[in-house]
Amino acid sequence: MSNINAVVTGVGGFVPDYILNNDDLSKMVDTSDEWIMTRIGVKERRILNEEGLGTSYMARKAVKQLLQKTNTNPEEVDLVILSTSTPDYAFPSTASIVCKKNGITNAFAFDMQAACSGFLYAMETAASFIRSGRYKKVIIVGADKMSAIVDYTDRATCPIFGDGAAAFLMEPTTEELGVIDAQLHTDGKGLPFLHIKAGGSVCPSSPFTVENHLHYVYQEGRTVFRYAVSNMSDVCVEIANRNELSKDKIDWVVPHQANLRIISAIANRLELPEDKMLVNIGHYGNTSAASLPLCVWDNEAKLKKGDNMIFTAFGAGFTWGAIYVKWGYDGSPTNKE
Ligand code: UT7
Repeated sequence: MSNINAVVTGVGGFVPDYILNNDDLSKMVDTSDEWIMTRIGVKERRILNEEGLGTSYMARKAVKQLLQKTNTNPEEVDLVILSTSTPDYAFPSTASIVCKKNGITNAFAFDMQAACSGFLYAMETAASFIRSGRYKKVIIVGADKMSAIVDYTDRATCPIFGDGAAAFLMEPTTEELGVIDAQLHTDGKGLPFLHIKAGGSVCPSSPFTVENHLHYVYQEGRTVFRYAVSNMSDVCVEIANRNELSKDKIDWVVPHQANLRIISAIANRLELPEDKMLVNIGHYGNTSAASLPLCVWDNEAKLKKGDNMIFTAFGAGFTWGAIYVKWGYDGSPTNKE
C-alpha cells in the first residue's frame, strides 16, 4: 500500500458583501430575530444579489484567493472538484467555468452533488485521487448560492440559508498528516423530507411550476433535524472510536452549520466543550456545500499543524458522514488575506 496521504495545504473563501439580517427578514415574512436566534442561531446571512452572477462567481473568487495564498501556479493544478446544489447551469459544470476564469488549464474538473454533505464527499474523493500518486495539486470547492433556490415568502426555510464559497488545496504528503479516515453514507430516505420538486427531469419547468413555487427548497424541518442530530452524532462517535480519538485528543470538530441546536447536540453526544466546535453560523447561516470550508476559512488562524479535526455534515438524500483530518499547517492571523 502507498504511503502517500492527502493533506490540506491552504484555504480560500469568499462571501458576498450584501447582508440580509433578521430584522430585514421580519419585514418579508412573519418571523422575528428572537425566534430565529433561539431556534436556529443565525443573525445574518450573505446574499449574492447582483443580477447575472451565480455560484461560479463566488467559487472563482475563493479559488483565486486560494491560489494567491498558497502561491500556486494555476497551470500546475491537476484536478478541481466543485460541490454545489446550485450550479450556474445544468451544464456545463460550474467547475469548468471556475477553471477558465482562474487560468487553470491543465486540470480535469467536475461538479459533485451531495447537497450539504458535498464538501465531505469532495474531500474523500480528492484524497483517493492523491493517494493514487497521479494527482499532486487538487482543489476542492464548496459553493452555493442558496438565495437562488430559497422561497422568501416561506418563513420555515428562508431564515436558514445564505450564500458563500470556499476552497481547499490538497496535496500529497508522507508525513502523518491529512485525511486519516472517512465514513460517508447515503441512504435515499430523505427524498420526501428535503427536495426541490421541479426543474429536474421528473417535473421540468413550466408556468405551473413557477406559479406554484415548485423551484424552491422544500424541507420538513423537524424530521430533518432529528435525522441530522442522530446521524452526525453516530458517525462522529464511530470515527472517533475506531481511531482511538478520546475526547481530550480531539482538537476541533467542524460541523455543518445548519442549526446551532444541532451543533450543541453533537457536542453533547461527543462530551466535548462547545469551544471545540468551530462555528460561524451566526454570520452566514447554512451555506450548504460551502458550510464546512467557510467555517475553516473563518477559523483558520486558530488551527495548528497536527491538530486532530473531525469534519461532519448532513444533507438531502440523506447524505452524511465524518472525516478525521490531521491539519497540515499552522494558521496565522493573516491567513484570510
Ligand atoms: O442543511 C441540510 C439539513 N437541514 C437541517 O439540518 C435543518 C434541520 N431543521 C431545523 O433546523 C429546524 O427544524 C428548523 C429551523 C427548520 C425549524 O425549527 P423547529 O424548531 O423544528 O420548528 P418547527 O418546524 O417545529 O416549527 C415550530 C413552530 C411552528 O408553529 P406551530 O405550528 O407550533 O404554531 C412553525 O409554524 O414555529 C413556527 N415557525 C416559525 N415561527 C417564527 C416556523 N418557522 C418560523 C419562523 N418564525 N421563521
